[in-house]
Amino acid sequence: MTQRTALVTGASRGIGKACAEALAEAGARVILAARDTAKLEEVAAGIPGSTVVQIDLASPESIKEAFAKAGKVDILVNNAGITKDGLAMRMKKDDWDAVLATNLTGAFLAIQQVLPAMLKERWGRIINISSIVGETGNPGQSNYVASKAGLIGLTKSLAQEIASRNITVNAVAPGFIDTDMTSVLSDQVKENLLGHIPLKRLGKPQDVAAAVRFLASEEAGYITGHVLDVNGGMYM
Ligand code: NAI
Repeated sequence: MTQRTALVTGASRGIGKACAEALAEAGARVILAARDTAKLEEVAAGIPGSTVVQIDLASPESIKEAFAKAGKVDILVNNAGITKDGLAMRMKKDDWDAVLATNLTGAFLAIQQVLPAMLKERWGRIINISSIVGETGNPGQSNYVASKAGLIGLTKSLAQEIASRNITVNAVAPGFIDTDMTSVLSDQVKENLLGHIPLKRLGKPQDVAAAVRFLASEEAGYITGHVLDVNGGMYM
């Protein structure tokens, strides 16, 4: 079978790293992308055949350069994301802009870079990492939630635009996953969250990566425009 090339953004740690590992296990040639190439090299050392490319999703120029270096990409996982939480009334415009730029505009610009080759190839998989809060909303995260809900809208619109070319576009919406992003939460907040998770545990990066691996597979070829929840039942 043709070996596919997968590019994962934010692959230096957490969910992105787990996605890169899972896609490599499934037989893809993986390109790890993030800002910190030293960290990426460390991750790449554990993934046979993988390569690294520096990318800053907040910079349109950096995105162009990174994809020019990466070459043809068959599977794009838009995973990089940041939070800058605060109540909407007091939120600085800079914090709004920064989160939207990285999480939503960055993903969109990355998609634009991979589309021409996918259209030509008549095969492609685009997987956007959204979030449970993109579906439910969350007080104190209006910027982040807007970016994650935006990714869902982008997923559904793009899925309809390019389905005829055999390119699928899906989103994965993780619940609370044990990574650096959630390590900042207090024990009390975590305890409270567990009370709302039917499966009674935080998710692991590998739980999300398994969903990504499936959506990237040949077998998932009839699934597009879908939002796959990986949240322990926290939101149904
Ligand atoms: P993390 O903070 O551990 O990792 C984020 C990754 O994105 C890192 O590799 C970081 O270097 C990269 N990144 C951030 N800004 C970047 C930029 N401007 N350019 C390039 N790379 C950049 O986060 P985690 O938990 O692994 O999250 C991954 C994705 O999953 C994010 O989009 C996050 O919003 C989403 N998510 C995470 C959840 C969680 O509970 N951890 C829940 C729902 C969604």
